[in-house]
Amino acid sequence: MNSFLKSWLTNGQRPRVVILGNEKGGSGKSTLAIHIVAGLLAAGFRVGSIDLDGRQGTLSRFLENRRRAKAERPEILLPQHRQVSLSRSATEDRSGDEKLDQVVTALEGLSDTDFIVVDTPGSDSVLCRAAHVFADILVTPLNPSYLDLDAMVEVDESAERIVGPSAYSELVLYMMEKRREMRIGDLRWVVVLNRLPNVNTKVTRSVTQVLEELVPRLGFRLAEGIHDRVVFRELFLQGLTVFDGVDRGVLRLANRGLRHGLKEMRDLLATLQGDDRPSRATTPIGNYGRTEPRSETTGESWGRPPAVNP
Ligand SMILES: Nc1ncnc2c1ncn2[C@@H]1O[C@H](COP(=O)(O)OP(=O)(O)OP(=O)(O)O)[C@@H](O)[C@H]1O
Ligand SMILES: [Mg+2]
Repeated sequence: MNSFLKSWLTNGQRPRVVILGNEKGGSGKSTLAIHIVAGLLAAGFRVGSIDLDGRQGTLSRFLENRRRAKAERPEILLPQHRQVSLSRSATEDRSGDEKLDQVVTALEGLSDTDFIVVDTPGSDSVLCRAAHVFADILVTPLNPSYLDLDAMVEVDESAERIVGPSAYSELVLYMMEKRREMRIGDLRWVVVLNRLPNVNTKVTRSVTQVLEELVPRLGFRLAEGIHDRVVFRELFLQGLTVFDGVDRGVLRLANRGLRHGLKEMRDLLATLQGDDRPSRATTPIGNYGRTEPRSETTGESWGRPPAVNP
C-alpha cells in the first residue's frame, strides 16, 4: 500500500471518510453523496468532497450549480471539492497509478476537514477498489429490486434462500478484514434501500427481508429507507437540496415532500454516525468518532444458507 495512505489511515486526527459505493450503477450513490455533503455542511461540519466518477462527474456538476447559486445567496454552504480522473477526451483514460496519485493529493489537500465524502462510479475499477481501503463509513444504496439485490447477494429463484455473497460483498468483507489487520478501526457499512415506492410492493418486502437476513452475515447496518421523491430530483440544477429549505431558508419551498425528504436524509446521517434512533426536529450529529463494538457476526463464515421462510 502507498506509504502516504498507510500513515494517513493510522492518523487518529484525520477526517472521517464516507464513501458511496455499489458496483450496480444508478442506485443513487451521487444523489446520496450530494445530500450527505449538504447535510454535514448544514450541521456545521467542515466538509471535503471527492468525485471519483470522472466520466459522469455528477457530484462535481452539482457543486458547480451550487457555486453559481452561492453567487446570489452567500449563505449557501460549499464543501472543499476535488475531482479525480477527469479524462481529456472520451477515448483517453488515465492509468490506475496516476488516478491513485490524484486521490492521495486530494486527501492531503482536505486534511483540515471533519468529513470527506467520496462519490464513486457504478463499476468495478482499480480506483474504486482503492477507495474502499480508506473508507471509514461505506454507504451502499440499493433500489428495491431483485436486480439491485443481485449486486449484493445471490439468492435462489424464489428469493427464499440466500446462496452466497456477490463479488462486491466479498470485496467489502475483505476490506473489513484488512482494516482489522491494520488496526485502523472498523469499517462501518450502511446499506440503504433507495427509491422506495409509496405502495408497499411484494418485491420491496422480499428484498427487505433478504437484507434483514444478511445483516448478521455481512455486518452492515440497514438504514431506514429513502423514498422515491421528486424533491430529490428537482433541485439538482439549482445546486440545492432538502437541507437548504427548512433549516437555512434558501429554498422557498415547504411542502410535505421536502419535510419528509429532510427527515429521511437526517435519519440516514444519524445512522452514519452511529445514532440509529430516528431523528427529532434537529438531529445532533456531532458525536461521531466513538468506537463501535465490533459486530459478532461479520460474515466470516457463510455456513449453510438458511431458508428465508422456513
Ligand atoms: N430517492 C430518490 N428519489 C427520486 N429519484 C432518485 C432518488 N435517488 C436517485 N434518484 C434518481 O435516480 C437516478 C440515478 O441516481 P444517481 O445518479 O444518484 O445514481 P448513481 O448510483 O450515482 O448512478 P451511477 O452509477 O450512474 O453513478 C437519477 O435520475 C436520480 O435523480
Ligand atoms: Mg453517480
